Amino acid sequence: MKVEPKIREFICTTAHPEGCREYVRRQIAYVRSQERKKGRKQEPKKVLVIGASTGYGLASRITAGFGCGAATIGIMFEKPSNGKRTATPGWYNTAAYEEEAQKAGLYAKSINGDAFSKAVKEETIALIKRDWGKADMVIYSLAAPRRTDTQGKTWVSALKTTGKPFTEKSMDLRNHTIVTKTVEPAAEEEVEGTKKVMGGEDWLDWIKALKVADVLEDNALTVAYSYIGPRLTYPIYYDGTIGQAKRHLEKTARVIREEFPDVRALISVNKALVTQASAAIPIVPLYFAVLYGVMKEAHTHEGCIEQMVRLFREKLLEENPPTDEAGRIRMDDWELEEHIQSRVWEIWEQVTTENVENLADIQGYWEDFYHMFGFGFENVDYEKDVEIEIGIPSIN
Ligand code: NAI
Repeated sequence: MKVEPKIREFICTTAHPEGCREYVRRQIAYVRSQERKKGRKQEPKKVLVIGASTGYGLASRITAGFGCGAATIGIMFEKPSNGKRTATPGWYNTAAYEEEAQKAGLYAKSINGDAFSKAVKEETIALIKRDWGKADMVIYSLAAPRRTDTQGKTWVSALKTTGKPFTEKSMDLRNHTIVTKTVEPAAEEEVEGTKKVMGGEDWLDWIKALKVADVLEDNALTVAYSYIGPRLTYPIYYDGTIGQAKRHLEKTARVIREEFPDVRALISVNKALVTQASAAIPIVPLYFAVLYGVMKEAHTHEGCIEQMVRLFREKLLEENPPTDEAGRIRMDDWELEEHIQSRVWEIWEQVTTENVENLADIQGYWEDFYHMFGFGFENVDYEKDVEIEIGIPSIN
């Protein structure tokens, strides 16, 4: 079947299997092109990645596997193809990751299911016991719209403000017009729901389950990803419902360290990047396009893989990872540099429908967007019929 992108505002409902393979291969090639830091005492060897199929989790898995030679187990929630519809991109990415890992002699197994559930935790523990004995690193990179907790209650997350409505410029992704968007404040139960889904409760549940089953090495490392961003987006992000959840996640790192002193729990605050999760946040895509332009001009722009390679290389695997006063690793350091943000703000104030193509990196936004779904690679022949029913070696 010939596969074309079908875009609905911030989501693409198709994915290209060959393109997703290219997306993964390029990330692997980038990791391989980076020199391994010499003399490092601690490199992870058995890494569990929760949320391993797209965005930051996929980049983390590729960095652990191809950068450190680690065996990986990846957890994800993706849909295979039914023969008529394509699979989700995370499905094809994972198939590609496993194939490449196999060629490189790296252990890679994947579990497709709801990471919030007890069943998936048990399945993961059984697999670790059987194949590894113990894991030495756990990366928590979930971004989900809802979660059913262990009592069977389903919580839904919201992308809203807390307190009062917030009105800002935004870009209509269908036609690149600059519009004004108002985001309404969340009801209390929506704040609670977002904290339940995107906060740290499930991260703690995972660590507890792994410890109780005795499948974590002493001194194991666990890291979860957070975001803060500039003042411009505080009302919708850091002070919004998602920010409340991130504060909860950040506190959970402390809770894990207190409850399990031999687990090194860390937060890494990452850079704003176009991923399936972040493209859905109102106002934020215009910020991405402006930021991309400014950071590319300053030669400090990074994608998920560059962020994760720098995280592993410069920060996470150091004996004493450099952190801010709140104990967080800051991978948003370059995004938040004063000269970057003052330029972003200058552009933000000027940007209109007429000048947005010149002032913001709209092309860069869409390039990242299409790539996530396996489209827009010049070396993939999109005119060709492709097999869409692709299996993942460890699942089929
Ligand atoms: P993403 O949407 O690309 O990845 C989400 C991953 O979670 C996928 O592998 C998906 O299969 C998995 N997943 C979702 N629900 C699941 C479930 N119920 N069970 C099992 N797996 C499930 O998202 P992205 O952006 O990579 O986000 C990962 C983390 O990084 C999130 O915590 C996010 O807040 C954080 N982050 C993202 C930033 C961004 O700009 N994209 C910036 C800083 C932090």
